[in-house]
Amino acid sequence: MEIALNKLILGDCLEEMRKLPSGSFDLVVTSPPYNLKNSTGNGMKDGRGGKWKNAELVNGYSNHHDCMPHDEYSKWQRNCLLEMLRVLSENGAIFYNHKWRVQNGLLQDRQDIVKGLPIRQIIIWKRKGGINFNQGYFLPTYEVIYLIAKKNFKLAPKANAFGDVWEFKQEMKNPHPAPYPVALINRIISSTNAQRILDPFIGSGTTAIASIMNGREYLGIDISPEYIEMAENRIKEFKKQGVISF
Ligand SMILES: C[S@@+](CC[C@H](N)C(=O)[O-])C[C@H]1O[C@@H](n2cnc3c(N)ncnc32)[C@H](O)[C@@H]1O
Repeated sequence: MEIALNKLILGDCLEEMRKLPSGSFDLVVTSPPYNLKNSTGNGMKDGRGGKWKNAELVNGYSNHHDCMPHDEYSKWQRNCLLEMLRVLSENGAIFYNHKWRVQNGLLQDRQDIVKGLPIRQIIIWKRKGGINFNQGYFLPTYEVIYLIAKKNFKLAPKANAFGDVWEFKQEMKNPHPAPYPVALINRIISSTNAQRILDPFIGSGTTAIASIMNGREYLGIDISPEYIEMAENRIKEFKKQGVISF
């Protein structure tokens, strides 16, 4: 079955991925909601912001509250990853961006989501700065990118020289509440030979922009009509002007 590429789908990613044929993508690059509002911390969870008043995600996403019971969230994310693995070809890989955090004084390292999956590497994305008002631990300055790879996955020639700690500034101009930087996704995509790229949580369309920059094909899914529109505009602008408008 042929699938139409270079488009965005408005819908729930699990439902939409289930409609895709097995083995139809070479690469998945994505960053899911982190369930940040289900937090033992004192600010993000109740919507008032506490010390986090200026954090964009205080209000959650436009169509997702980001506050699921922890076990439900982990199961959901695991099911999403299993579906991503199903739609990947035998030389494909998933780059799954997530954030570890401290909950009730203990590191929550997302093992409950990724345990048993074919993790080949954890890449550290070192961000600039960060916020932590907690005296119990050092200021977190990185996120992780799980490289979850099928057996035959290989990087593009010379890409392995980038190493596994990457420093990129977070995105500041993008109105989406949790975008990742184009430069980070450009690094991932240009480090592979993938032709068909899926992002099931496409948000403002960063993965699509980086795919176009590298002459690859993409399919993006998001549950929010607002972000799909944002992404469509951003892609249109990029194709027209060759510049990333935000
Ligand atoms: C961390 S953001 C992704 C941001 C994106 N990487 C970017 O650069 O703009 C997570 C996205 O997941 C979307 N989302 C939440 N639940 C979803 C679901 N069930 N299916 C598809 N998308 C969903 C949210 O609307 C949000 O845009």
